[in-house]
Amino acid sequence: MNKRLIIGNWKMNPGTLVEAKKIAIKIKRISKKLQNSEVVICPPLPFITNCVSKKNINNFHVGVQTVSVEEEVGPYTGEVNARMINSIGAEYVIVGHSEERARGDSNVIVSKKLINALNAGLISIVCIGEKARDEGGLYLEELKNQIKESIANISKKFAKDIIIAYEPIWAIGAQEPMMPEQIFEMSLFAKKAFSDIFGTENGLKVKVLYGGAVNFRNAVDIINIGKVNGLLIGRESVNTPGFIELIKAVDKIS
Ligand code: PGA
Repeated sequence: MNKRLIIGNWKMNPGTLVEAKKIAIKIKRISKKLQNSEVVICPPLPFITNCVSKKNINNFHVGVQTVSVEEEVGPYTGEVNARMINSIGAEYVIVGHSEERARGDSNVIVSKKLINALNAGLISIVCIGEKARDEGGLYLEELKNQIKESIANISKKFAKDIIIAYEPIWAIGAQEPMMPEQIFEMSLFAKKAFSDIFGTENGLKVKVLYGGAVNFRNAVDIINIGKVNGLLIGRESVNTPGFIELIKAVDKIS
C-alpha cells in the first residue's frame, strides 16, 4: 500500500539537543504503531545523528532541511553535501523551501541541490508555492515554472524519488491553511505539471503533499477533501502533543 507521508520540518527548533531527543523519542514510539502512514522528521543538522535510530523503526525516517549546491567535498565553509547527509543515516531532504528561496535559492540552485541529493540516494521533497494569487492566474505559470525548472535536467529514473510539496507562501506561518477544495485542485495541477516532464505514468505515481498552517484540527480534512498524499508541517511538528494527535488522526483515514 502507498502510505501517506507526514513530514515534520522543525526549522531552527528546538533550542537544545536534550529537547530534540525528547521529541524524536516520542515520534518514534508512535510511528511504530502506524498502519497507513509514515513519518519523517527533519531536525536541524546538529541533531540529526541523535534522531536517526541505529535499528530500523517501522514508518519512521529522518530528513534534513537543505543540502549544499556543491556535490564534492572541498573548501566550502559552512556547507554540508548530500553524501555526508546520506552517510549519517538521513534518508530525506527538503529542497526549495520558500524560506530558502527567500534567502536566494533560485530554481537553478534548487535543481542543482536536487541533482546532488538524488545522486546521493536521498528522497527529495521539492517545495513549490506562489507568493500571492492574482486574478489573471499568473501564479499558475509561476508554479509550473518552479516545477519545470527545479526538476529540469533530472533523469527519469529518479522520478520515483521526488516528492512535490505544494506550500502557498501566504499560508506558511498563517493561522489558517488553504481551503481543502483548493488544495485538491492544486494537487492535480502539480501532478499534471510533473507528468508533462516525466510522463503520465510517473505523474500518476508522484506524491504531492500540502504544507502551510497544518495542525491536528485541520489535517484530516486536508487529506480527505484535498486528496493529497501527505503533509509538510512546520510549527505543529515541534508541538509534540499536537503532532502526535495529528499523526494518529491521519493514520485512521483508510
Ligand atoms: P507551518 O510551516 O506549518 O508552520 O505553516 C509550514 C512550512 O514552512 O513547511
